[in-house]
Amino acid sequence: MDLQNARPVVAPEVVTVLIIEDEPPLLDLLQQLVATIGCEVVGAATLGEARGLLKTAPHCAVVLTDQRLPDGMGLDFCKELRAFYPNSIRILSTGFIETDVLLQAINQGEIFRFITKPYNAENVLTLVRDGIARWKTDRENERLKTALIQKNEQLGNANTKLAAALDNSVDLCMDIMDRYDHLLAGHGERVARWCIAMGRELHLSETEIDTLRIAALMHDIGLVSVEREFHKRQQVGWEKLQAVQKAGLTSHPATSAQVVQFHPNQAVAEVVKCHHEWFNGNGYPEGIAYDRIPFLAAILAVPDAYDELPYMRQDTKEFIERNVSVRFHPEAARIFLHLFDNRPEFGEREREVTVSQMAEGMKLTNNVYNSLGVLLVPKGTALTDRHIMRLRQYNATEPIAQRIFISA
Ligand SMILES: [Fe+2]
Repeated sequence: MDLQNARPVVAPEVVTVLIIEDEPPLLDLLQQLVATIGCEVVGAATLGEARGLLKTAPHCAVVLTDQRLPDGMGLDFCKELRAFYPNSIRILSTGFIETDVLLQAINQGEIFRFITKPYNAENVLTLVRDGIARWKTDRENERLKTALIQKNEQLGNANTKLAAALDNSVDLCMDIMDRYDHLLAGHGERVARWCIAMGRELHLSETEIDTLRIAALMHDIGLVSVEREFHKRQQVGWEKLQAVQKAGLTSHPATSAQVVQFHPNQAVAEVVKCHHEWFNGNGYPEGIAYDRIPFLAAILAVPDAYDELPYMRQDTKEFIERNVSVRFHPEAARIFLHLFDNRPEFGEREREVTVSQMAEGMKLTNNVYNSLGVLLVPKGTALTDRHIMRLRQYNATEPIAQRIFISA
């Protein structure tokens, strides 16, 4: 059987019906009859002739074949067709065939219908019409399936591009915060690490954890609208700030929420807006309390406060415990303290030091350059006495103008 090479590359628009019948007058009659329904009809008296036609003729939508033919059985030919032309609609005409064999052939999909001889013109036309309708439906379904797969691929590509664009936008926000104040971007990254760990402890969904991560990274982006020297109220003292500066600070959650509106996950903006709300309602900007505060914002609030605390470890723990159900949601505080006790690596914070405040063991969190831009000590270095002595020597002859940050 050499039908594989005969498979057409493109299905034609014209619907063709192949009729295989070994009695020439009957074949002629059938061709004329079927042609009345407006399709192209080709005829073959043997299976060999039919195979020859399939090599050159257009793809046949419907094949009506007699069962008993001089060079083989129509049912066997239907099996061949099924293998090489799975979309062809096969109709078998028979006068002498065992019913169970026929039923099996239908059930296994080898033939679409069968028709008994002698032929009844109306039956032949009905079956051929049904066959053509089925062929068209199958072809349309195939076209829709292909189109759907293509659309899904396009959608997948668009989603990948959108995700990359969103990541770039988040990176851009982090870059803006880093340029505004290196501590601000580092704060977002550390709080995000806490939030991911707390989310996992709480068995939150991956979507919720990702919402928390993005919100944590960008929750303070609104602070870049506040003058640099005032944004750290605990550094300058809240009471020393003017009313306009206080307003700038207290409105930063709402400003941050406006900035992160670009993210399609709208929960991010809601979490960002509520990260300074207190459990008892004494927070800002809305002063909402208890369950009115989104739980993800209540989670973020704990490491956010921790990372800005100037306290030592034990004082920090006492501060968190003292504020359970006051400032912090009890469950969020419980999970935070659990991680605080068991995962000390999360406890690292960052602070600014001068060259004279440097001490052995401090880890640099930014590169330190001299005034000519030459790298003196790279980020990540655990300072030794030798590093410190070298930096002090440089600083004495040509003061290091940049800010220096360490983790502690
Ligand atoms: Fe904040």
